[in-house]
Amino acid sequence: MKSRLNVNGSVREFEADPATPLLWVLREQLGLTGTKYGCGIAACGACTVHIDGVPTRSCVRPASTVGANEKVVTIEGLSPDASHPVQKAWVALDVPQCGYCQSGMIMAAVALLRDKPKPTDRDIDEAMTNICRCGTYNRVRAAIKVVAEGGNPRVAGLAIQHADGSVT
Ligand code: FES
Ligand code: FES
Repeated sequence: MKSRLNVNGSVREFEADPATPLLWVLREQLGLTGTKYGCGIAACGACTVHIDGVPTRSCVRPASTVGANEKVVTIEGLSPDASHPVQKAWVALDVPQCGYCQSGMIMAAVALLRDKPKPTDRDIDEAMTNICRCGTYNRVRAAIKVVAEGGNPRVAGLAIQHADGSVT
């Protein structure tokens, strides 16, 4: 079945069985491999994308149920050069370890910070239900707070000393 999706600002055509999850259309048909497969049962959040701004686990959402007027944004669509404030905070704090879960983490964090620019720890706990096997949870929380404090790790009291002696 031929269908269309509005992804990262462009209308893209694809052919897939109506039951095909959005995740696989994004990855296999549209080449947007930044969105990851972790569990396939909406538990881990690795596949999180935005649909009209709502963080959505794309592994359980059939692509055929995404309306032509709904806007899908993947990690590739956040910014052309990784300059989104959340991405910059992630880099500044060296959040990723293996990185596998991180596009989903970032998409969840972007949605949280848009809705609650100054999230409390409880807000973060409630919004960030993504699973990270590398255990980056503390740095994810810190990076969210850095964005909430205007993007400067020092202002947030969260500067990190790197192995080469530099501080960010
Ligand atoms: S792959 Fe979708 S929630 Fe885990
Ligand atoms: S950074 Fe490795 S799973 Fe999260």
